[in-house]
Amino acid sequence: MALDVGTGSGILALELAGKGWSVIATDLSKEAVENAVENVEEAGLRGRVEFVRADLLQFLREGVKIDLIVFNAPYLPSQEPVGDTYTYSWHGGSKGGEAIERLIGIIEEKGLEVGEILLTYSTLSHIEEGISRLRRMGYKVETIDEKPDFFHKILLLRAAKPTIKQSRGKT
Ligand SMILES: C[S@@+](CC[C@H](N)C(=O)[O-])C[C@H]1O[C@@H](n2cnc3c(N)ncnc32)[C@H](O)[C@@H]1O
Repeated sequence: MALDVGTGSGILALELAGKGWSVIATDLSKEAVENAVENVEEAGLRGRVEFVRADLLQFLREGVKIDLIVFNAPYLPSQEPVGDTYTYSWHGGSKGGEAIERLIGIIEEKGLEVGEILLTYSTLSHIEEGISRLRRMGYKVETIDEKPDFFHKILLLRAAKPTIKQSRGKT
């Protein structure tokens, strides 16, 4: 089972479902969830994707096993107030990596058994604490891709736990 956190338009959920994954897609924004449902229905993949409107992974029970989490996170630092669908999409708190740090914290606190995590961040995000925490939790963490943007770089982080067997594809 794969979890698409912050699904937005549902693009990553669609990609995963198209590859045969069973997906749970979540977003904090009501409009985003409605939009993602529409897009997944249009693609004929509704049977493969469940939707939950939720703050990150708060809806999960303790100890749940998840093969893959993808999170194209909001990663830019800002002092602006948050509160609508537009700001949710990019606002990463005052240091930039707030949603990412919280996601990692929830994985540890709930004892979730996550095999692999793929998430985007920025050279402006300051997620050093989260990366150290993942390593202490037994993950192998590496930045596997990067792309220059106007004023920063967008990075793709992969954290994998070799002890958790992956069931890539169908569940
Ligand atoms: C950069 S967008 C990514 C959208 C889509 N996954 C994509 O790749 O195009 C970040 C998404 O995370 C959602 N989001 C922000 N904070 C969240 C939170 N605390 N819990 C769940 N979703 C959140 C936003 O509403 C937004 O849809």
